[in-house]
Amino acid sequence: MNEKIRIADLHKSFGRKAVLKGVTIDVLPGEIVCIVGKSGSGKSVIMKHLVGILRPDRGSIFVDGIDYTGADEENRRKIESQYGILFQGAALFDSMNVFDNVAFGLRRKRVGEDAVLRTVAEMLEKVGLRDVEEKMPSDLSGGMQKRVGLARSLAMDPEIMIYDEPTTGVDPITGGAVGRLIASTRETFGVTSIVVTHDMMLADRIADRIYMLNDGAIIFSGTASEFARTENPYVRQFVEGRAHGPIAVL
Ligand SMILES: Nc1ncnc2c1ncn2[C@@H]1O[C@H](COP(=O)(O)OP(=O)(O)OP(=O)(O)O)[C@@H](O)[C@H]1O
Ligand SMILES: [Mg+2]
Repeated sequence: MNEKIRIADLHKSFGRKAVLKGVTIDVLPGEIVCIVGKSGSGKSVIMKHLVGILRPDRGSIFVDGIDYTGADEENRRKIESQYGILFQGAALFDSMNVFDNVAFGLRRKRVGEDAVLRTVAEMLEKVGLRDVEEKMPSDLSGGMQKRVGLARSLAMDPEIMIYDEPTTGVDPITGGAVGRLIASTRETFGVTSIVVTHDMMLADRIADRIYMLNDGAIIFSGTASEFARTENPYVRQFVEGRAHGPIAVL
């Protein structure tokens, strides 16, 4: 078993509503895996288990073979320190300029100011931003804010990047740029990436493997070309929804 991440038979109910009904997803080191599915299918609930906001009723999440869901405090912290998370909307601190936003985690780790300066400059360059250090988040476009959010995550040298609906709320051209950014982040940093999205076009462009969630269960997984070829009616409807716009609805 050499998966970087293994989500194994995850079950979760809220009250009487079973939301996850045995979800299994494997992610190999350096892979980009997309989890797609219509609204309400359980994507965010999976994501919340991945980052430890929710505990499963049954099943586990393994990172480097260590059971994250059952881990003690020390192992949990070790695993969480590998994560970089790009939340929907980038989640920047509005009252801090771009430099301080990107420097935030480094300063919390008590990294020296010289190294902070170097790392912030390097990360902003890697995400394709220039001369923005003094700007406030509100002065930037949505796409630029996502780049700053990504730079802030990358500054912490993550092994795993988790992207939550990275193209939601951005125009299609910016969406294309976000896709390229996720791919180039993998190329440059060798990170393992999980992308939760209902944007099938994005998944089609960047994923090594796509898992399709429907009503709390994985109903199909494969490469983008396997998705394009399958006769599975749910997948067909989802994929063909592309013709009517970026948000596919079953
Ligand atoms: N804390 C909670 N308590 C009760 N029900 C919840 C909770 N969190 C999620 N749910 C339910 O679980 C189901 C899946 O929700 P989830 O947010 O994971 O969907 P999603 O696939 O992320 O949808 P979207 O594409 O709209 O973000 C929904 O029916 C939702 O109402
Ligand atoms: Mg969601």
